[in-house]
Amino acid sequence: MNQSIAREITRRRTFAIISHPDAGKTTLTEKLLLYGRAIQSAGSVKGKQGDKHAVSDWMELEKQRGISITSSVMQFEYEGYCINILDTPGHQDFSEDTYRTLMAADSAVMVIDAAKGIEPQTRKLFKVCAMRGIPIFTFINKLDREARDIFDLLDEIEKEFGIGTFPMNWPISCGVSFRGIFDRETREVLTYETRHGGRNRLESIRCPLSETERLDGLITPALRETLEYETELLDGAGYVFDRDQILKGRLSPVYFGSALNNFGVEQFLESFLSLTTPPLPRKNAFGGTVEPTDERFSAFVFKIQANMNKVHRDRISFFRIASGRFERGKEYFHLQSGKRLRLAQPQQMMAEERDVIDEAFAGDIIGVFDPGVFSIGDTVSEPGMEVRFTGIPTFAPEHFAVIEQIDSMKRKQFAKGMTEIAEEGAIQIFFYPDSGMERVIVGVIGMLQFDVLKFRMESEYGVSFLRQDLPHELIRRVDTPDFNGNEADLARDTRWVKDVKGRDLLIFNGMWSVNWALENNPGLVLREFSEDIERDD
Ligand code: G4P
Repeated sequence: MNQSIAREITRRRTFAIISHPDAGKTTLTEKLLLYGRAIQSAGSVKGKQGDKHAVSDWMELEKQRGISITSSVMQFEYEGYCINILDTPGHQDFSEDTYRTLMAADSAVMVIDAAKGIEPQTRKLFKVCAMRGIPIFTFINKLDREARDIFDLLDEIEKEFGIGTFPMNWPISCGVSFRGIFDRETREVLTYETRHGGRNRLESIRCPLSETERLDGLITPALRETLEYETELLDGAGYVFDRDQILKGRLSPVYFGSALNNFGVEQFLESFLSLTTPPLPRKNAFGGTVEPTDERFSAFVFKIQANMNKVHRDRISFFRIASGRFERGKEYFHLQSGKRLRLAQPQQMMAEERDVIDEAFAGDIIGVFDPGVFSIGDTVSEPGMEVRFTGIPTFAPEHFAVIEQIDSMKRKQFAKGMTEIAEEGAIQIFFYPDSGMERVIVGVIGMLQFDVLKFRMESEYGVSFLRQDLPHELIRRVDTPDFNGNEADLARDTRWVKDVKGRDLLIFNGMWSVNWALENNPGLVLREFSEDIERDD
């Protein structure tokens, strides 16, 4: 292939950054962007109230809650690498959006608060990464505060996720006595000075572990002895460094630092970039894999976001480019509609703005204006290329509610809003077989999705609704031809519903009712929503 295209692709690094709220994801992202000179000052990533710039506050609700609900994408250059960071929502609750974002990444960086360890949000995301073999890099943050025992923290990661950890560096104490980190590769100590040596940067000194006396002066003899003991322990009893295991997602390199004080961030970035992978091949449902360096362009939609800009009322589909080079204005083939089309106003998200772009390469994420053509999981490629990407997961909703329109004059807006938001993948919608669009059953994974739905229906479509929560927790697809729920012998809590395509599903309060349905209806086939269910196009 064209050498310059291949070079562009191999210098790309696309990763998702994940954490539990408050662990320091925004702060770390900001520091990374500062290194890449993608932003001018700290405080640009997260919009505090009253801030004029806020990269991820596309939605009013985010600002009100001070959390990031929609994932954003940021691109920057650093030492010859072209880096794409996929931000993931970091609230307590989470949605399918977060998981889908992981599908567009080649690796994940997990930020952990050293005082808290693994928290529920990180636990779920980490599991998805581990399940899919996505390499996970761990940044243990806030060492300038009191931390938990580091060996315990590592143990927790290993036990919870069944993967190994390899500390790339090691903290020298924590909190007020935090003195720096020890780099296990160079065997040097990098000291942490609370004295600032310039904006956003701390002054630090490098000193080899072997220079005992000098080190004693820098970190005290007691801390040096502890460090020697702990590193011996690590070298002797810890996991062995193995890049292959890292890339298979079985061993997580661990870094320590303080994002707020910009300590350990540069070391992390450089090590991460040298270890993580360039864009990876993707599975082709028609057989084989698509290599990123295949010069024919191909991409898939992993996220759709409507009304990002209220003034323009736009809907943007986000594509992860899987192979080749994208060119603006060129005609591509949209597999699901069977049509050729041009992608309108392709954009790349920069830290502080969106830029219309002329070209992009495998590994990049582009957002294109979408008049309602695309769905999540859709494939677009060079005409004639036999490719379809799969594995964009459909997750089973865990909470259900009946949503009913209040104002019958606004029937059209209600239907439009519910359908569009469902098409984005922000909610899933179902119907009772005998009722129409005025009464919809909404399924979500996190309860926060209901709040987002209410807010968006009101602000974007001008429609209010009534919500009645349902006790159901489980959903199954019915795989029996000519199923009629009214004739089936079902437990009292079980409800027969249909999806937008008219397919039959059952929702249940618990496993007991699922078993009842199976036992009392010979021939009934129920399918679980599994992660790898392919979209039925
Ligand atoms: P998130 O995106 O993961 O939710 O976390 P975020 O970066 O917003 O950080 C959450 C809080 O933790 C912020 O404080 C931030 O300043 C602080 N923080 C981040 N990294 C460090 C660190 O290395 N050390 C210490 N001590 N604190 C850190 P806040 O008070 O909520 O906000 P702010 O007013 O300081 O911005």
